[in-house]
Amino acid sequence: MEPITPAAEAKKVMLSGIQPSGNLHLGNYLGAVKNWAELADQFDCYYFMADLHSITVRQDPKALRARTLELLALYIACGLDPEKNTLFIQSHVHEHAELAWVLNCYTMFGELSRMTQFKDKSAKNSDNINAGLFAYPALMAADILLYQPDFVPVGQDQKQHCELTRDIAIRFNNLYGSTFKVPEPYIPKVGARVMSLSTPTSKMSKSDPNGCVFLMDTPEDISRKFKRAVTDSDTENCVRYAPAEKPGVANLMSIYSSVTGKTFEEIEKEFDGMGYGKFKPAVGDAVVETLRPIREEAQRILADKAYLQQVYTDGAQRATYVARKTLRKVYKKVGFIEKPF
Ligand code: TYM
Repeated sequence: MEPITPAAEAKKVMLSGIQPSGNLHLGNYLGAVKNWAELADQFDCYYFMADLHSITVRQDPKALRARTLELLALYIACGLDPEKNTLFIQSHVHEHAELAWVLNCYTMFGELSRMTQFKDKSAKNSDNINAGLFAYPALMAADILLYQPDFVPVGQDQKQHCELTRDIAIRFNNLYGSTFKVPEPYIPKVGARVMSLSTPTSKMSKSDPNGCVFLMDTPEDISRKFKRAVTDSDTENCVRYAPAEKPGVANLMSIYSSVTGKTFEEIEKEFDGMGYGKFKPAVGDAVVETLRPIREEAQRILADKAYLQQVYTDGAQRATYVARKTLRKVYKKVGFIEKPF
């Protein structure tokens, strides 16, 4: 997608979220958070920890609380300044759940049945295919539409949910007149789909810890995972960008490009004649150095619980102000009597 040039007069709005259902990994960072931090100065930004979404899959309550705070610390450590960005916990702004209910009534069974994430997650959690998992995209639409954003920066796998959000917004606007801004997904050119280091044909995800690099991993763990990364069974042993033929190498090249800013051509030149044996540890080193300051800063922030509480309290207050305005408008449009107190 083309770089976004925000209008000089009014700041455009950006919003996104991550589920605290696992630890933040390199896919989340390169596909989402890295972009958020780069765009923070030019936009009015809302970023949240999607804890309501997390419980669509069983969570250990204590671990969920710990991961929600860790995610907030990582947001800040990745460069999201709480003064410039509204950072909040989804469940603190009850308008999300309320608008989700309304939007459930404007989202079709057939649309939800087609969602890839629902199909994947119900296959993985066949003993717990709950209604929340099915209706998840209506909650995501509510998360987004409450803040009237222009852009939703996400990785490739969330594009389908963003498109459904647009369809729901258009449907509602057609029925009741202009209510929601229809947002655009904003997907990075490189890093939108980071693949597993052990199975480069599947996306990097927390459910495959060997192929997944977590932001809080030690440098030793990160280096080990990259040294063991599966490359391709071709005899060429040459660093060349050919995703269909060489998905493992293409994935490592994308990661390297994303963390160093080098183009694929520059990378091919840099490793010309060197083979995978030199390339894999070099990618590992570049990732270690990118993540080192983030991990150290997150650990420092995480130790200061009072500061984190102040950030999420302030964030929830700012988010509530905006969310309430949209919800009030929606309730009026659908015919609810205004609450007198
Ligand atoms: P989640 O929590 O699965 O992932 C958070 C973000 O990380 C991106 N991502 C990846 N990007 C590149 N490569 C990967 N391997 C990779 N894995 C994950 C995701 O695309 C996402 O941007 N439904 C959302 C959370 C959500 C949300 C929202 C997002 C809830 N409400 C409103 C935007 C707006 C989700 O499950 O993302």
